[in-house]
Amino acid sequence: MCFFKEKSIVRFVVLLYFTLSITISSGANTISANQSLSGDHTIISEGEQFELGFFKAGNSSKYYIGIWYKKVSSNPPTIVWVANRETPISDRFRSELKIIDGNLVLLNESKSKIWSTNVTTTTTTTLKPATVVILDDGNLVLRDYGSNSVEPIWQSFDHPTHTWLPGAKFGYDNRTKKNQVLTSWRSKDDPGVGLFSFELQPSSNEYVIKWNGSHQYWITGAWNGKTFDLLPEMRLNYIYNFSYHTNENESYFTSSLYNPSIISRNIMDVSGQVQQLTWLEATKEWNLFWSQPRTQCEVYALCGAFGSCSQSGLPFCSCLTGFKPRSETDWNQSDFSGGCVRKTDLQCGRNMEKADFLKVTVKSLPPNKSMAVGSAGECSTTCLNSCSCNAYFFVDNECSVWDGDLLNLSEDNDSGKTIFVKVASKDLPHHKKTNWVTVGAVVGFVGGVVFLSGLIVLLIYNKKRISLSVRKTRMEGSLVSFVYKDLQIATKNFSDKLGGGGFGSVFKGVLHDSSIIAVKKLESISQGEKQFRSEVSTIGTIQHVNLVRLRGFCAQGNNKLLVYDYMANGSLDTHLFHGKQVLNWETRYQIALGIARGLVYLHEKCRDCIIHCDIKPENILLDSEFCPKVADFGLAKLVGRDFSRVLTSTRGTIGYLAPEWLSGVAVTAKADVYSYGMVLFELLHGKRNAEASEDSRSKYFPGLVANVLMDGTDILSVLDSRLNREACVEQVTKICKVACWCIQDEEERRPTMSLVERILEGVLDVDMPPIPQICQYNYL
Ligand SMILES: *[C@@H]1O[C@H](CO)[C@@H](O)[C@H](O)[C@H]1NC(C)=O
Ligand SMILES: *[C@@H]1O[C@H](CO)[C@@H](O)[C@H](O)[C@H]1NC(C)=O
Ligand SMILES: *[C@@H]1O[C@H](CO)[C@@H](O)[C@H](O)[C@H]1NC(C)=O
Ligand SMILES: *[C@@H]1O[C@H](CO)[C@@H](O)[C@H](O)[C@H]1NC(C)=O
Ligand SMILES: *[C@@H]1O[C@H](CO)[C@@H](O)[C@H](O)[C@H]1NC(C)=O
Ligand SMILES: *[C@@H]1O[C@H](CO)[C@@H](O)[C@H](O)[C@H]1NC(C)=O
Ligand SMILES: *[C@@H]1O[C@H](CO)[C@@H](O)[C@H](O)[C@H]1NC(C)=O
Ligand SMILES: *[C@@H]1O[C@H](CO)[C@@H](O)[C@H](O)[C@H]1NC(C)=O
Ligand SMILES: *[C@@H]1O[C@H](CO)[C@@H](O)[C@H](O)[C@H]1NC(C)=O
Ligand SMILES: *[C@@H]1O[C@H](CO)[C@@H](O)[C@H](O)[C@H]1NC(C)=O
Ligand SMILES: *[C@@H]1O[C@H](CO)[C@@H](O)[C@H](O)[C@H]1NC(C)=O
Ligand SMILES: *[C@@H]1O[C@H](CO)[C@@H](O)[C@H](O)[C@H]1NC(C)=O
Repeated sequence: MCFFKEKSIVRFVVLLYFTLSITISSGANTISANQSLSGDHTIISEGEQFELGFFKAGNSSKYYIGIWYKKVSSNPPTIVWVANRETPISDRFRSELKIIDGNLVLLNESKSKIWSTNVTTTTTTTLKPATVVILDDGNLVLRDYGSNSVEPIWQSFDHPTHTWLPGAKFGYDNRTKKNQVLTSWRSKDDPGVGLFSFELQPSSNEYVIKWNGSHQYWITGAWNGKTFDLLPEMRLNYIYNFSYHTNENESYFTSSLYNPSIISRNIMDVSGQVQQLTWLEATKEWNLFWSQPRTQCEVYALCGAFGSCSQSGLPFCSCLTGFKPRSETDWNQSDFSGGCVRKTDLQCGRNMEKADFLKVTVKSLPPNKSMAVGSAGECSTTCLNSCSCNAYFFVDNECSVWDGDLLNLSEDNDSGKTIFVKVASKDLPHHKKTNWVTVGAVVGFVGGVVFLSGLIVLLIYNKKRISLSVRKTRMEGSLVSFVYKDLQIATKNFSDKLGGGGFGSVFKGVLHDSSIIAVKKLESISQGEKQFRSEVSTIGTIQHVNLVRLRGFCAQGNNKLLVYDYMANGSLDTHLFHGKQVLNWETRYQIALGIARGLVYLHEKCRDCIIHCDIKPENILLDSEFCPKVADFGLAKLVGRDFSRVLTSTRGTIGYLAPEWLSGVAVTAKADVYSYGMVLFELLHGKRNAEASEDSRSKYFPGLVANVLMDGTDILSVLDSRLNREACVEQVTKICKVACWCIQDEEERRPTMSLVERILEGVLDVDMPPIPQICQYNYL
């Protein structure tokens, strides 16, 4: 009793103390010299864009001072800046954020300074009051009102954590020799400094992503005045107006939003990727618009020591056989940095555990191998006998061993290199305990076993032959459900690659009945087998002369494949952009009409309207008669939530994406109309819209077409020069007008695909289009 009483008195006194010192009125945007912030108090920027206060990360009881979007209703709030990343507090009511001696400081429960803006103050500033203000761009600014300087003495924009906001500079200050670094959080629930960082390399004016502050695994290339060399798609980023500045004092990259009402941010994510996200109010989600490196497994050492990254199936990381996560809690929160440890420690020395080798086929050899001498057998023995050796690799009579942790493993069973990893024998599959008593018995049986096994092999062989023909014909609806092994045989172990995209690679194959197929091996599919089957069977019912026919599929564990009819003339891009044989105008017009018909069918004639979401020349296939067939429809639903991530991180896709992918409204069939319009321009020009404009002298092609239409000048001048003006002026004009209508910013202005179909058929006329907004941006 007495104990409780005392405690409540203490609490009362504490409360009293704080009610006296807190003078921040709700809704204020400023902390003044004699005010302090604590508990649930916050300050909010004038336009109510950003809010600063204590927040709790994940399910822990740790609190941090942070800035988050006031308007974004994500749960939890979206944090853009954190003060005390490495020094959380646990009682936010007894901690305070206040100005002391001209600095903004955070005092913990026992009033110790645990975070500070660390500005060296001159003696005069201590006499003159400083204030801290949160601004509508998310910048927290410490101003010294004593001096007449409008320049802040400290601002959060100069000290970013994992987020780079529009309006902030991001680069290197040559006066202070300080580099700004975006560092990932440790995990989704821990804002502490993680392993991945993004920063400017001032010596070469390139931005790089590093692992653990040292190993660089991605680079932008140098700034060429408009984009970074290795990021040509940046030019087509129609939300951000990026610019790079460099002089003797500083080098930095900065950005603004073309449309200030869009909410967008760039982050160094815990996944090791730099991401650009845009808030979609319609779905109340952050939409990933762009990320680099493109695939998750390109992130160096993502899965930690002895962890293996696999692009097919989620989660991306798993431990090698015989290994387990070092920390299961971290691993469950997608923090893979701790990596894996052996399930059974090898106990090098006297009580040594019996070890054996696990065969792992990897895309590239892990770093830090060293050379040893000997034959294959000796290489293995050397490693087995050395306590520090973790793995060996033997090829071309050369023996390599790894003494340290194995990092950056990416499994690739199709065409990788095979390394042998040391594991306790008992943790390997098929391991049988042998001892001398049983060995004796076994030897006695060997004769009989040999005879029996011969018999069994014969039986299995016959059974296999029967089942091969049986499982081939297993139908699900109109679709064949293939067995993985059969597809492996049909494609000669996936050796003849036809192409590859964000969703996986496509291989050529031949079935028993000598029909030729194209097999798409899907990657990053998070769906379970059941859901996958049901989605696939829906796609299977869709048949139209301008759509590629799905013949079947395979869903076995992580292996998800789709089997299509093979198209003799490949994809449209190869003919338009790389082909030796030029497609004549008549063919191009028929291709335009055919794609339109395929899309009309998808949008209006199927039971459920299907939005393709990824119309581009790569997804238009041509049969032996050059009849166009739209491929990959239905993938958006099949891939699910991850679709936009893959889409926007695939090279070249961005030039075809409609603006609503980022502006916050739901994507409708009109998004396909936009992409279709972009393809029409490319049919006219025979060049990619995006690439053609990379030459700084030439204008963005759609803009050029719009101008020629307006001026009423020679329309054939916009035509692919390889056609030598051999085309019907009326048809060219029609295509130009339709294309301009299709790429209008406002969805309502774009025609439906059935309208387009009727215009191209000559049933309807088409008016003069307004100049599309994308052609007006001067950055293109
Ligand atoms: C402290 O607050 C009081 C009242 O809120 C105000 O009058 C005074 O000017 C403040 N002092 C400083 C140094 O800001
Ligand atoms: C969060 O913590 C509470 C109590 O510690 C627990 O009951 C709850 O399951 C946790 N939630 C999650 C998502 O881990
Ligand atoms: C406050 O911070 C100081 C210095 O870091 C530390 O020694 C002290 O334990 C902290 N107080 C509490 C209650 O955590
Ligand atoms: C401020 O300076 C102290 C002492 O030099 C240092 O320990 C601390 O990390 C610095 N804080 C920040 C936020 O830079
Ligand atoms: C990162 O580097 C530091 C030394 O710079 C090292 O101590 C640490 O173990 C490294 N972290 C990992 C996960 O390898
Ligand atoms: C892009 O930003 C630059 C300066 O950073 C500015 O001069 C230009 O007008 C901006 N362009 C647009 C279209 O807003
Ligand atoms: C950075 O400043 C130094 C002098 O401190 C100067 O020599 C150098 O040229 C500057 N760097 C750039 C890129 O201007
Ligand atoms: C660099 O800084 C110096 C001193 O602050 C200033 O005089 C000069 O104008 C600055 N140069 C540029 C290009 O901004
Ligand atoms: C991690 O996740 C697995 C499977 O979801 C679960 O069985 C396990 O208990 C989790 N471990 C921890 C420490 O949270
Ligand atoms: C890490 O693995 C990726 C994917 O296999 C590979 O592209 C990269 O070169 C590897 N990095 C190093 C340093 O080995
Ligand atoms: C690999 O070697 C480099 C330099 O030789 C060293 O800095 C790094 O820590 C090593 N990495 C591992 C995982 O042992
Ligand atoms: C590679 O093969 C092994 C053993 O057959 C299997 O466990 C692993 O999942 C496969 N990895 C991939 C990426 O298919």
